[in-house]
Amino acid sequence: MKRQVSLLITGARQLVTVPPPPGGGPKCGEEMGRLGVIEEGALAIEGAEIVAAGPSREIRAAFAPGPEGLEIDARDCVVLPAFVDPHTHVLFAGTREWEFQLRLEGISYMEIAARGGGIRSSVRMFREAEDASILAESLERLDRMVAYGAGTVEIKTGYALDPEGELRALRLIAELDRRHPVTVVPTYLGAHEIPDEYRGDVEAYVRLLTERMIPEAAALGVARCCDVFCEQGVFSVEQSRRILKAGQRAGLAAKLHADEIEPLGGAELAAELGAVSADHLGRVSPKGIAAMAAARVVAVLLPGTLFSLGRREYAPARAMIAAGVPVALATDCNPGSSMTDAMPWIIALGCLAMQMTPGEAITAATYNAAAALALEARCGSLTPGYRADLQIIAAPSYARLPYHVGSSDLRDLVLGGVPWIRDARPGALRL
Ligand code: NIG
Ligand code: FE
Repeated sequence: MKRQVSLLITGARQLVTVPPPPGGGPKCGEEMGRLGVIEEGALAIEGAEIVAAGPSREIRAAFAPGPEGLEIDARDCVVLPAFVDPHTHVLFAGTREWEFQLRLEGISYMEIAARGGGIRSSVRMFREAEDASILAESLERLDRMVAYGAGTVEIKTGYALDPEGELRALRLIAELDRRHPVTVVPTYLGAHEIPDEYRGDVEAYVRLLTERMIPEAAALGVARCCDVFCEQGVFSVEQSRRILKAGQRAGLAAKLHADEIEPLGGAELAAELGAVSADHLGRVSPKGIAAMAAARVVAVLLPGTLFSLGRREYAPARAMIAAGVPVALATDCNPGSSMTDAMPWIIALGCLAMQMTPGEAITAATYNAAAALALEARCGSLTPGYRADLQIIAAPSYARLPYHVGSSDLRDLVLGGVPWIRDARPGALRL
């Protein structure tokens, strides 16, 4: 007697399961390249959960679609976990093309920020925008991310920079999660920049963050993590430490924008605090790499940002993998330094700019990306018990992802066991 399930996916040329390592936690070193590929593979799904993964022959012998169930033929396709994008700033109002043009003329991102632009340009637009218009443009961005294979997207606050506005941002992010089939993971980033009102007294803003904004944000019960932009001219290592400790006291896991432009020691701070991730790391030091490896902090690399800022030096992914640092990849989707919604392009940059193998890059965009959000026991892998978030791409091998640069071969996308995109045609994406 076959067990009836709600969804069967059969006949995949490659079923890429990205299995968790023995003992769980992020995948490090050689484990990053182990994708658990099953040729002629199949998946059985009941409701929102994967119940079995294996060779089609075995899965077909044990399972059948129930009366309301569906079978998807994945012949000539690769089935892999939906992407987890663990670092984005999707909730913003309006774009900054004029700053992009200034950068092309040779004015740096930090110079534009020092002149009052950059994140503060977006803060002005965000504070003035209506909820409805911020939601509408952010939902559109999520639609695009999903069309490139995303199933989980972290979204940070950080374009309001005042107590009420940052709470409003958290509520809007929670609303995006309700309205969109993608899983949204909110992060509190009240420490994204020093707001105009506090330029003359940064310490006063740090006190406001640690004594009021962060405890109030945590009490709202929306955010899982607290983040900070630790960078020259923004928050120092010492200020970042106080901000993240306030987050940890309130129950928020720590994350940092670390060592992006200057090697300040953000990676070392991430290790000291037991942060869940340190992100960017374009200028991380060898000491920072060793500290992150010892503390098993996930390195979230954002090559789209360095590319978009016109930099030629990327984060040392190979050195990190060799040292045992678990590496993840993310879009950093934001209106200033990385205006992209496409994880496949980030995977291509991982391989072409940082010499990751396609297998490592796929682990970095799925299982390890989930680990950067402390969600690796629930998503990012096609293993029984995991959430059924998966993508079917029309390709003979998973290497198509970095090979077909800047494009997408996505055919079907299943989120929480529900097919949201069939035959590359989106259905009603919004709930
Ligand atoms: O990760 N570095 C800080 N935050 C973003 C940029 C945000 C913006 O410019 O609007 C980043 O690159
Ligand atoms: Fe960022």
